[in-house]
Amino acid sequence: MSKTELIVALDVNSVAQAEALVDEIGPEVLWYKIGKQLFTREGVGALEMLKGKGKKIFLDLKFHDIPNTVAQAVKSALSIGADMVNFHASGGSEMIRKTVEVNGAEHPDALLIAVTVLTSMDQEALAELGVAGNPAEVVERFAKLAKSSGAHGVVCSALEIDLVKNACGQDFKLIVPGIRPVGSSVDDQKRIMTPAQASEKGADYIVVGRPITKAEDKQKAAAAVLAELA
Ligand code: C5P
Repeated sequence: MSKTELIVALDVNSVAQAEALVDEIGPEVLWYKIGKQLFTREGVGALEMLKGKGKKIFLDLKFHDIPNTVAQAVKSALSIGADMVNFHASGGSEMIRKTVEVNGAEHPDALLIAVTVLTSMDQEALAELGVAGNPAEVVERFAKLAKSSGAHGVVCSALEIDLVKNACGQDFKLIVPGIRPVGSSVDDQKRIMTPAQASEKGADYIVVGRPITKAEDKQKAAAAVLAELA
């Protein structure tokens, strides 16, 4: 089994804050996640800062639109330096297929990742939208749809790793947030696992934010997570 990679989430408002975090965390961490909070304010500057330091970027913008628009948005994301990009599986098979078709040849190493069910949604919230089944059933259904449409993997909670690996196979990449090292604050996360547990289960990437970015010694906190993955 290949090693689990750590992605640190840069959930801050400015490139200056993001850069200070990256410098404090140090050279051991390769992957960073830029989400809507930072990208909406600072755009491409956030990616340029990370590329200038030789980092890899997961641009977590969760696109959801008509097929051509998502395909072109992903193309733009890859052209400004993203190495991993995501979109909602609920955008449908045509949206995913078109995105892979438009970008796959030009960026063969890019990871095109689907979001299944937001972890904030329970069965009631899904039913309200007319989506049948409990969250686990919907995750499995959406993950299979993403895979058969050409996506390279999905974002899922640690508790769904077995389910998705069984449904979609070992080569389908799993990006897993909701990670908490032993002894760190749970914050608002509900379904958590330690880095070692998620790694043992087969997470390909874990996404860790506050346990590292809010730590007194950020380099030490990141090193502790990496040691759990070694
Ligand atoms: O600080 P923390 O480790 O909780 O950050 C987790 C990161 O992963 C945040 O950027 C959050 O938005 C993201 N995420 C998540 N749960 C999901 C999808 C994304 O926590 N289901």
